Amino acid sequence: MSELHDELNGRLHGAAPALEHLERLPVLERVIREGLRLFPPVSYYTRATAEPMELGGRRLRKGCTVVFSHYITHRMPDIFPNPERFQPERWLTAAPTPYEYLPFGIGPRMCIGITYATVVIRVVLPMLLQPLPPDRRAGDPGRPARHDHPQPTPPDCRCASTVPAART
Ligand code: HEM
Repeated sequence: MSELHDELNGRLHGAAPALEHLERLPVLERVIREGLRLFPPVSYYTRATAEPMELGGRRLRKGCTVVFSHYITHRMPDIFPNPERFQPERWLTAAPTPYEYLPFGIGPRMCIGITYATVVIRVVLPMLLQPLPPDRRAGDPGRPARHDHPQPTPPDCRCASTVPAART
């Protein structure tokens, strides 16, 4: 993980990643892939058979529920050697097929939020992992607001007094 900290601190200097950074953080990319391999937030899928069929040597009736788990596939040693180990560097060479590595599913029911989710992960994780600059740490005098966005201007209460009084 020190490699990741070096990459983030060296390229971002405590800032949140901008769009142009996202392509240039290869260690972060590998850490995310490895995290989604070992701990996919969705760990199994189900499908219903639309018609009688044979699958893996078993005959299934129409309407059977088939449960399959990429949590298990992601831990198969013939696909991912030392599968229980968190080894982001395996992604320097690993090239699983889309049916061997599928944290977002595969096929017509694949996650439609994949692009949004992967951008959010790549932006939020560096923000969580980088140390806050000294002037942002809790307890510092004059600590500015946690975010850099302009604050909404509070409503100007003087407006009320400029409203003409209702005629009686
Ligand atoms: C790390 C974040 C996420 C992971 C790991 C994830 C994973 C998945 C998985 C495994 C499926 C089922 C795929 C299948 O059955 O083959 C799925 C479906 C779906 N996901 Fe995500 N998802 C994530 C984030 C999101 C986000 C942010 C959205 C929406 C903004 C989203 C929207 C959906 C929808 C609508 C489906 C159902 C698609 C369908 O049945 O046609 N997901 N997701």
